[in-house]
Amino acid sequence: MGNLVETARHILQLNWKDGFTIPTSKLYPFQWNWDSGFTSIGHSHFNLDRAIQELASLFSSQWENGMVPHIVFHSENEKTYFPNYDFWDSSVNSGAPQKPKSSGITQPAVHGFVLEHLLNRFPDNEQLIAFVKELFPKVLHYHRFLYTYRDPEREGLMFIFHPWESGRDNSPLWDESLDRIIIDPAKLPSYERRDTSLAPVDERPTSYQYDRYVYLLQLGKTHRYDGPGIFEESPFLVQDTLMNSALIRSNEGLIRIGQRFGFDVGELAEWQQQSKKCFREKLWHEGLQTFCAYDARADHPIAYKEIGGIATLHAGIPTEEQAKLLNDYLQSLHQRGFHICPSFDVDSHLFDSKRYWRGPVWSQMNWMIYHGLKDYGFGETAEIVKSDLIELVTKHGFYEYFESQKALADTLTVGYGGGDFSWTAACTVDLLQEPTN
Ligand code: GLC
Repeated sequence: MGNLVETARHILQLNWKDGFTIPTSKLYPFQWNWDSGFTSIGHSHFNLDRAIQELASLFSSQWENGMVPHIVFHSENEKTYFPNYDFWDSSVNSGAPQKPKSSGITQPAVHGFVLEHLLNRFPDNEQLIAFVKELFPKVLHYHRFLYTYRDPEREGLMFIFHPWESGRDNSPLWDESLDRIIIDPAKLPSYERRDTSLAPVDERPTSYQYDRYVYLLQLGKTHRYDGPGIFEESPFLVQDTLMNSALIRSNEGLIRIGQRFGFDVGELAEWQQQSKKCFREKLWHEGLQTFCAYDARADHPIAYKEIGGIATLHAGIPTEEQAKLLNDYLQSLHQRGFHICPSFDVDSHLFDSKRYWRGPVWSQMNWMIYHGLKDYGFGETAEIVKSDLIELVTKHGFYEYFESQKALADTLTVGYGGGDFSWTAACTVDLLQEPTN
């Protein structure tokens, strides 16, 4: 354990770039939105000041409309990434800061629950309390952006218009929506991918998918990234489980923080009530016995068992009965020889334990699910979720994601994707200090 903590400290130190942390060198050389949330928790174990700076620098990129972008390009000299700041061209929206430059889409809103987690660790720290009070209105403004621009019909569920907003970029969940996009090669701007020269091709998205990612980026840009035309025209329009449950969990965190420090939480409480209700009514899939994302363009559920449905445990969305079903499902995977939690249905023909978001295990997902299981009283499963991650990190290193089939994992010496990964270090260190049930 001592060694793991020391290595985690070293990785967070290595990826720290004077004010913010990159997820990993080469593959992801800027600041990523939800990565930063988890990374901040990791820093807090070694250096609270950095934990605070991490979130402050992320929110320095907040747009006037409230959006916190999914990538912040603190350095304009780093040319090894595509799509870079020039391709996004956030200046199409006059409310986007000139500096730092950013992308035009967002990611799961984790910051409300991250702030709460930090406060729980340091309840009386004056520096942290002052910072939380300063950040609270900004996080609220971010949530208001989501409720205003991403929920035009006021259902209580946010839509995303790009797979990258879901955090689960390459999940099979998005295949049908992406197939709907007909590419006219004459209209698609030419581009050169960088990821495939930095990571094995069979672990990355295909070029068919990448063309569609670029198509949706262009569509967003045409509408200044927040115009109503996105909702009207986008072939990709999804009410995602993880996006919405992270927001709901963060609303909860903000409500408790607000109550402690005397902020008005009326608006948050209203959102929360409506979002939880709509989530439960619209996204539960009786046949699959899990929550599913909803394809708002085709008007039907995206009927797959996958990790976003399980992560709802973290937001207190399932009823006791539904939570038990999710817990039983995880236990059955454990018994069948999987490291939990695989990111996609292991019984689907689309399951691919190596390709990212199509089957591997991810540390930040385990972190959320661990806490969710504990909250519902499933301490035994929570322990497996924690120990599976620790075993993988111990045997394979602090990789971006990991093999979920135990028999195969036992034959490997490394994980998948980028190495020395920030949120893997952060989530491992944080879970290690959790008392064993
Ligand atoms: C990948 C992941 C995304 C993450 C990013 C940086 O794109 O899918 O969730 O934020 O890498 O780690």
